Amino acid sequence: MAGRIPDQFIDDLLARVDIVELIGSRLAIKKAGANYQALCPFHTEKTPSFTVSPSKQFYHCFGCGAHGTAVRFLMEYDRMSFPEAVEALARQVGMELPKEARAPANPEAASLYPLLDKAGNAYRQWLRQHPDRERAVAYLRRRGLSGDIAARYGIGFAPPGWDNVLRELGHEEDLIRAGLAIRKDSGSVYDRFRDRIMFPIRDRRGRVIGFGGRVLDDGEPKYLNSPETPVFHKGRELYGLHECLEAQRHPDPILVVEGYMDVVALAQQGLPNAVATLGTATTTDQVERLFRATRNVVFCFDGDQAGRQAAWRALENTLPALRDDRQARFLFLPDGEDPDSLVREQGAEAFQALVTDAESLSQFMLRELGRDADLYTVDGRARLVERGAPVIARAPQGVFRDLLVDELARHARVDRAHVERAVAGDAAPATTSHTPRRQAQPQRRTAVRVAIALLLQHPELAEKGGEPERFRDLDQPGADLLAQVLELLQEQPHLKTGAILERFRDDPFESALWKLAAWDHLVPEGGAEAEFKGAMNRLDGLLNEQRLQYLHQQWESGRMTEDEQAEWLELLRRRKGPTT
Ligand code: UTP
Ligand code: MN
Repeated sequence: MAGRIPDQFIDDLLARVDIVELIGSRLAIKKAGANYQALCPFHTEKTPSFTVSPSKQFYHCFGCGAHGTAVRFLMEYDRMSFPEAVEALARQVGMELPKEARAPANPEAASLYPLLDKAGNAYRQWLRQHPDRERAVAYLRRRGLSGDIAARYGIGFAPPGWDNVLRELGHEEDLIRAGLAIRKDSGSVYDRFRDRIMFPIRDRRGRVIGFGGRVLDDGEPKYLNSPETPVFHKGRELYGLHECLEAQRHPDPILVVEGYMDVVALAQQGLPNAVATLGTATTTDQVERLFRATRNVVFCFDGDQAGRQAAWRALENTLPALRDDRQARFLFLPDGEDPDSLVREQGAEAFQALVTDAESLSQFMLRELGRDADLYTVDGRARLVERGAPVIARAPQGVFRDLLVDELARHARVDRAHVERAVAGDAAPATTSHTPRRQAQPQRRTAVRVAIALLLQHPELAEKGGEPERFRDLDQPGADLLAQVLELLQEQPHLKTGAILERFRDDPFESALWKLAAWDHLVPEGGAEAEFKGAMNRLDGLLNEQRLQYLHQQWESGRMTEDEQAEWLELLRRRKGPTT
């Protein structure tokens, strides 16, 4: 993690990066008028609706609504984090990252990566060469794994003995911090992983951050995992995600399974798109991470009581992440089977068929909610709504939540409005942490919106906008935002559209601004200045009206001062000119 990157740096960066070149190096783009077009990489389409604008330095898809600057493109397409995308672009244009951005949030963590990497290499080497390797190799073979898959997942072997890693790598203290060695109360130190098959856990960038180790017989515990360390957080990572994305750039779907062995067994049978949570409940963090890589997630669980419970936890933690066209489904395996056993017995095709038939999230939800509610009684139906409402309330407002409300109402045979009220009562107040990314509602063309849209597309118009502060008094939706944008552009007239939008990252107005920025196709070429002046005139007219109303009240209440009287007369005189 990097520290905060200053706005100024992002401005400069975006001024130097050419978004057309950046996107052109990854997609086949074609010039179309002033813009470039491509098939949208974020949804499936046959005719291009993905547009890249060199003048605005951003992209916009008219099909799915995806949009962003060069930074956002790298985040979405190359799946980088914000600081990573900034760093990559800076490197490309030869800009040095500012100090505050470079300082790692956790300098301790940095030294652990090379050590974990070396440990991974050592385990792999021991699987190939250690005198005790035969048992390990035989075990893997018995489980149907080829050398090829073992190599792809970096599987290794921790030999028996208390100090193989300690002797091989040294750095006792660091090994302890990396979770590879343990200090006893007596002070002596020993290897954590002994006589186990080793599964390296990699982060999204492919760096080894921890391990899972399986015993070769039926000893206990069956799996030993790295503890939480400065670089390894169980609730955030997904085993196999890196490998999955190496194999498929756009996996669809991603399967979420329970175990390491399930992931590699599926890959062995030609299904490299599985990941595993690390022996814990699926977290919202993990689900968000999955949905950055795919639109379509299928959870696979055992069909037993424990599996259903785990699935329910996953459902609860998936709901907050459900928006746009994201889809989550649930697959319950026959008794006593796990993906590993099933795919080995029945093959990839049979497994695929199960995946295709997986239950939708709402089906699973209603089935669980209705499990012991008697829907033939009023009481039972009321109970269903009562139980369902707080669950549905976890989903963000939008199409998907409406759909769940519909289905619950239908299932409980009650009025939709009734369910809606129950859900609204349980919903947390809207937060800004979760601005919906894609919205389709058209915005009405008010003067405020027209002015903002024009400023976004033609920042040079700002100098003709007059004093920004006056709009803060204007009683119109968005007036404050107009003042903010106008002020920013008067101070920094050279910002391009993309850079302005980047300034509003995570701002409550962010999504509104993106929509306005994409409006320009409605503005006649060359008519921008006249249109802007027109909008400004209308707004000043509205300001006058507002002031007149106030003065009128002053007069009626007999509190009008002499200055106000003079102002009133002046405004009335001006009102005769052309206004609204
Ligand atoms: P399972 O017990 O279902 O194991 O645990 P599995 O994946 O089928 O393993 P095999 O097929 O017997 O080799 C599922 C997951 O739960 C975690 C591991 O992440 C495991 O992959 N687990 C299980 C542990 O962390 N520790 C354990 O002792 C057991
Ligand atoms: Mn298993």
